[in-house]
Amino acid sequence: MSQQKILITKRVYPEAVEFLKARFEVDYEGTNAGLTTDQLVERSRGCTAVVSQLTDKLGADVIARLDGVKIIANVAVGFDNIDVPAATAHGIAVTNTPGVLTETTADFAFTLLMATARRIPEGHAFVHSGEWKTWLIDLLAGQDIHGATLGVFGMGRIGVAMARRGKGFGMRILYCDAQPVPAEVERELNATRVSKEELLRESDFVSLHVPLLPQTYHLIGAAELQMMKPTAVLINTARGPVVDEAALADALEKKTIWAAGLDVFEAEPKVHEKLLRLENVVLAPHIASASVATRRRMSMMAAENAAAALTGTRPANLLNPEIWK
Ligand code: DGY
Repeated sequence: MSQQKILITKRVYPEAVEFLKARFEVDYEGTNAGLTTDQLVERSRGCTAVVSQLTDKLGADVIARLDGVKIIANVAVGFDNIDVPAATAHGIAVTNTPGVLTETTADFAFTLLMATARRIPEGHAFVHSGEWKTWLIDLLAGQDIHGATLGVFGMGRIGVAMARRGKGFGMRILYCDAQPVPAEVERELNATRVSKEELLRESDFVSLHVPLLPQTYHLIGAAELQMMKPTAVLINTARGPVVDEAALADALEKKTIWAAGLDVFEAEPKVHEKLLRLENVVLAPHIASASVATRRRMSMMAAENAAAALTGTRPANLLNPEIWK
């Protein structure tokens, strides 16, 4: 067994802990609360790896205090919680967990789209409340999915998987991305690359699949919501700050757009108070990748990335390859 020590900052699936314990000394914070920044820095002393989660905010100031750490293995595909350039400057490798959550996340994004379009949470609450008295011609009437236009912002792995689901439901696919997808993918999905404005104006459903970057912060704000159809539905399973939450709450209240399905929020776990009382929004607690099998795979993938780096093997999901000589 290696003398190196790994800090796991928060509860993960047990096989990942066992895998690491069989190879290294492990300091496991197996709680739901995880560690405060100061606790994380303190507990990282003497550790060469940190297995982190998206609730660990590892900005440049924190990274500068991670003495001796060689790798941060994040249990998520998103890594906006980590200042990767700062890690690179300190010679710290950073890894994420891409691929394993693609289909699960797209399943959820499409589920949220359907639940929002067809008002399932409202129907569920209505039946439970005992208010249901009779069949009515317009009772909880929603929006059709088949034949509608799906606009996908960010045509990476998850965006493509979402578009594939839309195609399966007979939707027309538009997408907006800095890079076009390969021609065979466009053909398979019958997808058309359009400008941001065209996507917003033409789509019945707009689904966000971009990473959170300075360029995507508030990608959807008041002006963009104003461009959307009054019958349109916005789906966000990407990152909260991609949408200006206050502007969205206003747009939903004024019916500038018809509805939204949100899995992510600007200041999780806080949710804009207006969104909590509006009926035309379906809310979920950042669970798009949360199938048991996928969260197990994500835990294991992060553990394997950490183990690889500590044994001198280039980790499979290295985000800053320039540090690996
Ligand atoms: C991610 O992986 O970035 C998700 O937000 C959590 O699965």
